[in-house]
Amino acid sequence: MAADNQIESVLKEDRVFEPPRQFVEDAVLKPADIKALYAAAEADHEAFWADQARQYLDWHKPFTQTLDASKAPFFEWFADGQINVSYNCLDRHLADRGDKTAIIFEGDDGEVEHISYRDLYTRVCRFANALKAAGLAKGDRAVIYLPNVPEAAVAMLACARIGAIHSVVFGGFSAPSLRDRIDDAEAKMLITADGNYRGGKLIPLKETADKALAEGGATIETVVVLKRAGADIAMADGRDVWWHDFVADQPSECEPTWVEAEHPLFILYTSGSTGKPKGIQHASAGYLLGAICTCRWVFDLGDEDVFWCTADVGWITGHTYIAYGPTACGATQVMFEGVPTYPEPDRFWKMVDTHQVTIFYTAPTAIRALMKHGDEYPQRHALDSLRVLGTVGEPINPEAWMWYRELIGKSRCPIVDTWWQTETGGHMITPIASYTPTKPGSVTQALPGIDADILDESGERVTNAGAGGVLVIKKPWPYMLRTIWGDPDRYRGTYFGMYDAHTYVAGDSAQRDEDGDFRILGRIDDVVNISGHRLGTMEVESALVAHEAVAEAAVVSRPHEVKGEAIIAFVILKDGEGDDRLASDLRDWVAEQLGAIAKPEEVRFADGLPKTRSGKIMRRLLRTVARGDEITQDVSTLENPQILEQLQARGS
Ligand code: WT7
Repeated sequence: MAADNQIESVLKEDRVFEPPRQFVEDAVLKPADIKALYAAAEADHEAFWADQARQYLDWHKPFTQTLDASKAPFFEWFADGQINVSYNCLDRHLADRGDKTAIIFEGDDGEVEHISYRDLYTRVCRFANALKAAGLAKGDRAVIYLPNVPEAAVAMLACARIGAIHSVVFGGFSAPSLRDRIDDAEAKMLITADGNYRGGKLIPLKETADKALAEGGATIETVVVLKRAGADIAMADGRDVWWHDFVADQPSECEPTWVEAEHPLFILYTSGSTGKPKGIQHASAGYLLGAICTCRWVFDLGDEDVFWCTADVGWITGHTYIAYGPTACGATQVMFEGVPTYPEPDRFWKMVDTHQVTIFYTAPTAIRALMKHGDEYPQRHALDSLRVLGTVGEPINPEAWMWYRELIGKSRCPIVDTWWQTETGGHMITPIASYTPTKPGSVTQALPGIDADILDESGERVTNAGAGGVLVIKKPWPYMLRTIWGDPDRYRGTYFGMYDAHTYVAGDSAQRDEDGDFRILGRIDDVVNISGHRLGTMEVESALVAHEAVAEAAVVSRPHEVKGEAIIAFVILKDGEGDDRLASDLRDWVAEQLGAIAKPEEVRFADGLPKTRSGKIMRRLLRTVARGDEITQDVSTLENPQILEQLQARGS
């Protein structure tokens, strides 16, 4: 029996898929190249990262010092070097790739626009000149509240060009959330749009921005407004300016502002388990290095690829794998304004064929949602341009993984299940497409130069296969966060408070199997304790989803007299309402799959789950519902607030 302070895993998975031979033959990076990276990183962690930084980044002033750990956990990388991120994403491609398509943009309504590297460069330079003319200087903050359109990337790269710090706020956030972020960052400028259409519905961005600014945002001097929806909006005299007027007289060249390697590139807010959102602050050189290395290694991104990350620029995934990574690699990428189910649930697959996408990167929640619509949607399309599939954001259940592999990848494409966080800046634990054998639901191995491990609560390494513990990173890496904006104590406490100032605590629990491959069990606070056995909620969810009647499931615990905690499962069916008989079948099913210990006390059927706008299930809320308590949490970031009433009403 496992020790009390270990998280047990009862999930068994023995399917292993080697990288397909044809894929490896055609790959840019060969297994020998990857092996050499692992060996170099193993031999000398710092020298390894210094080599990567010299190979992949163009420096204005080369660095001489690699890592400064003297102020741990406030680490510095390449600190005496100078660089400009937008130069690395644009200028250096002009000679060889000026006419190459940087962005293939597809709007919600299906309009398509191809933007070359030269065109992107010009747009960024003109916008950067306009920012300077409006008084935005190095170190000033600009909040970007735009739809997922090329102008969002233009605005981000333009800030980087002049050393201003951007903070992108996802377009789905409410006025109070926007206001809090503007106030916390003390932003001087807000860059938004009159509105846009997503899934055919108008998102009134400017109206929301005006509400935010009516109640706060006193530091904002200028509001730049992109005309996108053609919506009828108010423009405040002396404060608001249309994007097209803003750039109208600006020259199409803008000398980059060279900044220190550690100069903040951006702040991105993410929610903590308690309290106000944390402004995750990233540095310039180290962050960009991570974006480039991970694109090249994990996705095997090369010059011939058409890369598509379906995330929104409002999330870290859209920062690293839309705005910065692919552009710094000089790649062609697809950017999409809409949603996967509009006008029909085959939108993604149709776009893959239209734009001949070779690398496709999305979230498990999207995969499960599309899976629920049925196989006929992907089957309408050839999907033969694809060579790599990726997922990110939450554990992917083996059922969805296999569906992705077979229906989308036609059993021909490696799947990279990439574990990382807003804080880590880029991929950390993930298969490398051309190298790593994959297993459904496993994030496999840490990347070269990333020292991941699993510890128990006393700081001892957990070495038993199948035993779980706290996921940590034991050495700093160039693309890690540098601090929480304005709150260094919270940074230290949240990420380095559990063990020591060199041990980054991700807040996730994980286990390793017999091969040493990692599996993410969930957030530490999503762990349930049943009769002295700790279980990751994800495993029970996976088991439920493996049942033929179930489309999606979320599992939480509530206190139980005898067992300590009991499992409550919220289940969404593929069809129909669900009844006591099915509830009882599902409970038996889980017991059968995972053992009696994991048998849910109660199964509650619902039409949907409470989710954040980024698609994460809000288990915190479900816990409250499961306990029959009154909801006192902030529900303003919920995608679907009405679902809560339904869940409460159905309680027994
Ligand atoms: C948390 C970070 C990283 C970009 C999107 C989310 C969970 C992320 C995986 C994965 C299992 C995953 C973790 C992590 N997570 N990727 N492949 N397998 N869990 O960024 O909002 O900062 O969330 O998402 O719990 O800590 P984020």
